[in-house]
Amino acid sequence: MPRVVRLKSFAKVNLGLEVLGLRQDGYHELRTLFQSVNLADDLELRLRRREGIVVECDHPLVPKDDRNLAAKAAVALKRFAQAKGGVHIKLRKRIPVGGGLGGGSGNAAAVLMALDRMWKLGLGITGLLPLARRLGADVPYFLFGGTSLGVARGDELYPLRRQLRAHFVLVTPDVSVSTAAVFRRVDTRLTPRENGNTIFRFISSDLEGQPQYRLLTNELEEAALEEAPVLRDQVKKIRSLLVREGAELTALSGSGSTYFGLFQDSSRAARAREALRARGHRALQVRALTLDRYRRFFERALA
Ligand code: C5P
Repeated sequence: MPRVVRLKSFAKVNLGLEVLGLRQDGYHELRTLFQSVNLADDLELRLRRREGIVVECDHPLVPKDDRNLAAKAAVALKRFAQAKGGVHIKLRKRIPVGGGLGGGSGNAAAVLMALDRMWKLGLGITGLLPLARRLGADVPYFLFGGTSLGVARGDELYPLRRQLRAHFVLVTPDVSVSTAAVFRRVDTRLTPRENGNTIFRFISSDLEGQPQYRLLTNELEEAALEEAPVLRDQVKKIRSLLVREGAELTALSGSGSTYFGLFQDSSRAARAREALRARGHRALQVRALTLDRYRRFFERALA
């Protein structure tokens, strides 16, 4: 195995998210449907003889010290495997930071998978899973990718046999929202609902023919808009434009601030992206990555 590995780490959106209650560990019991998309950060990992994990990153808002999730992943695996020497991690961010797209969690999972190979540990997804869980609730998902159901804290994963194919327009307003604060706000509104089980109902719909996207909602959305009131007005405008251009689903990803539109047709997505850009929004067009494509990417990058 070479001492240098270059790979990508992909972004995710939450197609739907249900908050079922507060857990004894202070986290929330969730049901969420994750989807990876082909928007990615670039990572370079270099083994060094000298001890220590060094992070270099081109983005001013990303911490370069031991608060960085990629660095935490390297430290955790090094300790677990009692590996010798250090690692230099170079990060080029393309995924909007703090946007609900799982950029940091994806970086951490990519570091775990890369170092597992570089240090010849042979842990694989199953062996890395407990370490990923300790790093953050979204990190385990990035060991799998594709269209996957996440339950418990969102860290118990069930990749779907039927993988979605769709195009997305991602709009990330310049507003940062604290995930912990959004979850705190959601506590008070946990009442039994009549229209629950939306994600299970969606999964049972015809995913390869006409998926019933209208079943899906993000139950963090209202709390996120209360937490960041300036977002409310922007989201209203973004949503109406996406709907006008033919989006089949519009929702906040995670706790925000990225708002997305899902399109079956790429030319419609392109029109929506252009219309949003013309109004001064930061809008990107991406497409869904299936589980197979996601796994194949890492197998090739780490072969
Ligand atoms: O695990 P992670 O650090 O990514 O989570 C960020 C915050 O989101 C947690 O500190 C917690 O407040 C909240 N959270 C939650 N329930 C989950 C996932 C996250 O309450 N299932």
